[in-house]
Amino acid sequence: IGIWLIGAWGGVATTTVTGLAALQQGLTPEYGLVSALPQFQNVGLADWSQFVVGGHEIRDTSYVEAAQHLHQNSRVFDAATLDKIEGTLKEFDSNVRPGTLMNVGPTITSLATGDVLNHKDETTSQTLERLKQDLVHFQKKNDLAHVVVMNVSSTEPPQTEEIKSLSWSDLEAKIGAGDFAIPASTLYAIAALQAGCSHVNFTPSIGCDLPALEDLSQQTGTLHVGRDGKTGETLMKSILAPMFANRNLNVMSWVGHNIFGNLDGKVLDDPVNKSNKVHSKDHLLTEILGYKPQTLVSIEYIESMGDWKTAWDHIHFQGFLGTPMVMQFTWQGCDSLLAAPLVLDLIRFTERQWRRGDQSGTMGFLSSFFKSPMGTDLPQFHKQFDLLEAWAEEVS
Ligand code: NAI
Repeated sequence: IGIWLIGAWGGVATTTVTGLAALQQGLTPEYGLVSALPQFQNVGLADWSQFVVGGHEIRDTSYVEAAQHLHQNSRVFDAATLDKIEGTLKEFDSNVRPGTLMNVGPTITSLATGDVLNHKDETTSQTLERLKQDLVHFQKKNDLAHVVVMNVSSTEPPQTEEIKSLSWSDLEAKIGAGDFAIPASTLYAIAALQAGCSHVNFTPSIGCDLPALEDLSQQTGTLHVGRDGKTGETLMKSILAPMFANRNLNVMSWVGHNIFGNLDGKVLDDPVNKSNKVHSKDHLLTEILGYKPQTLVSIEYIESMGDWKTAWDHIHFQGFLGTPMVMQFTWQGCDSLLAAPLVLDLIRFTERQWRRGDQSGTMGFLSSFFKSPMGTDLPQFHKQFDLLEAWAEEVS
């Protein structure tokens, strides 16, 4: 089974691959992995040993270098584990290909180094064909039954509304004409579905969250889902907000301040890229509560924090007789280490769904993993998790 990571040498991708290699060698417990829970043991999920990694990148580095960087700057992974998995990391490095900078905006473009710069003058069709060929080549070279393409690349600027109203045939015509700005995340998703792969979007970028891509997945008999992994503060929101709703407590305001210092934080420091993430973190409360309290979400880049994130939330609410009360919480987590196990879970569940045969379209049963889930209108975490458990019973 292939895992194809878009943003292959980023923080989340590197931690995913480090974790996978450690799991393959039995060097780590399975804490943090949803798919290791007892209720998923009869589902027939793939074994860690079955996975091979490749991906697209726009920076020139390697898994060993990226993992060392995380180890030194963010105080994660132990040195002995890194030593033992070095060989596997190098093997996976050889499958990483240059991605595309098409319509990613100036902040992401400024990160680019190495081979990707040789592809700057391609047309949209040429880029799409190249990305597709990379997937086909990876599958053939490694004799893989299936490939799951996972977008873990930097958050793009938001897109214009027009793309959301297009059918697949409209979008296909626009790719051919080459006169329409298709976001890179969507191009990667198209390449995946056309190559017969499944596609998962772990980022707030638009990717496959479009009617045109749903059309394409139905036509090609492929699977997709997204968007934006729900790992920390928003996970807390989707668990706490139903409590306020179910006890009829009136939330007047909910303020969340986030600080962190990794490369993702640096990209999100650009207000345009940041607006995509803030929207993704903010819409949930209105959906769960049924009304809109005053909200503020701030995301600030503080370099010394490295991959560690602190979120402070202040929730101002009214109880009986209109009495104002306050709940506050502090969340301190390591961003990539929260995300990586979920990436592995999503790959395992997606591959299992594909193996059932005759499955296509959006995988709504995976909604508990996302801040802006596709294929469900249930915003409460526990209801979303029920969908996953119901799926597991069906598959077992
Ligand atoms: P990162 O900045 O460390 O990694 C992103 C990688 O993508 C970089 O290596 C970059 O060079 C690469 N990249 C950028 N544009 C690309 C393109 N067009 N094609 C191929 N590669 C490209 O960021 P991190 O922390 O790994 O996060 C990755 C994504 O996951 C971000 O969009 C983030 O918002 C999202 N995410 C992360 C969560 C977490 O860490 N807890 C939670 C939810 C979502």
